[in-house]
Amino acid sequence: MVKGGLRSYYEGCVNMARVSTIELKERKLRREKITMLTSYDYSTAAMVDEAGIDVILVGDSLGNVVLGYENTLSVTMEDMLHHTKAVTRGTKNAMVVGDMPFLSYHISCEEAVKNAGRFVQEAGAHSVKIEGGVERVDTIKAILDAQIPVMGHIGLTPQSVHKLGGFRVQGKDLETARRLVEDAKALDKAGVFAIVIECVPTELARRITEEVSVPTIGIGAGPYCDGQVLVINDMLGMFAGHIPKFVKKYADLQPIIIEALKNYKKEVEEGSFPGKEHGFTIKEEVLEKLY
Ligand code: KIV
Repeated sequence: MVKGGLRSYYEGCVNMARVSTIELKERKLRREKITMLTSYDYSTAAMVDEAGIDVILVGDSLGNVVLGYENTLSVTMEDMLHHTKAVTRGTKNAMVVGDMPFLSYHISCEEAVKNAGRFVQEAGAHSVKIEGGVERVDTIKAILDAQIPVMGHIGLTPQSVHKLGGFRVQGKDLETARRLVEDAKALDKAGVFAIVIECVPTELARRITEEVSVPTIGIGAGPYCDGQVLVINDMLGMFAGHIPKFVKKYADLQPIIIEALKNYKKEVEEGSFPGKEHGFTIKEEVLEKLY
């Protein structure tokens, strides 16, 4: 037996600081807000982790903000795994959620489990997220059976953009509002550890938050959700495309970056970069022997 018993063996092996699904559920009970942001690469993930953000979502929004697609439908499992690997290498404390891309969980439960397993086994993610409500219950149960925690996502689910008829607020009339409440309850019952609610009226998101036992994470869903998520490129002002109304820009990095790039171009062209301090020296006698 290891000195100190089995418990201390596990404490020595496992990073006890990592945010867990249990911790997130306790936060809801304690009414402490949960913070979540997306990341798609090592350096950004390391900064998000350093800032103490609880959950990092490797969102398929990478299709929009990193890969330059019009929507998320072209994003593949290979794209997601590639970026999730980079993100997990950059984190110590945050929980990493791998966003399952379009068609990776729609065909059969078997394929869904296999793909969810790849996020954990190959990319080091701690959980996965899938879009949809009642219609996803069997899939969620199958993934949970493989011991992989699942985060739900209802409201504006971007992988359904064509079915929804565009990117629009969801649940504004009685029928669709009722359906969203039913979806949230079904996900809760199926065993998800949290539910993203995207682009839903504030008071409806509040009702859903009160109705379910797991934390809700809002994006364009008002302040009453148990936590909030934003796409990092949007909130840092690093995305040139359309920015939704619900985004707050916490920085406006794009003009700063473009200014820095222009300065670099100017200094290289005029010969003031690199300076002496950016170079390396060689002994005079070595130089002399060279010719
Ligand atoms: O892909 C993504 O970034 C998301 C968030 C907007 C929740 O699903």
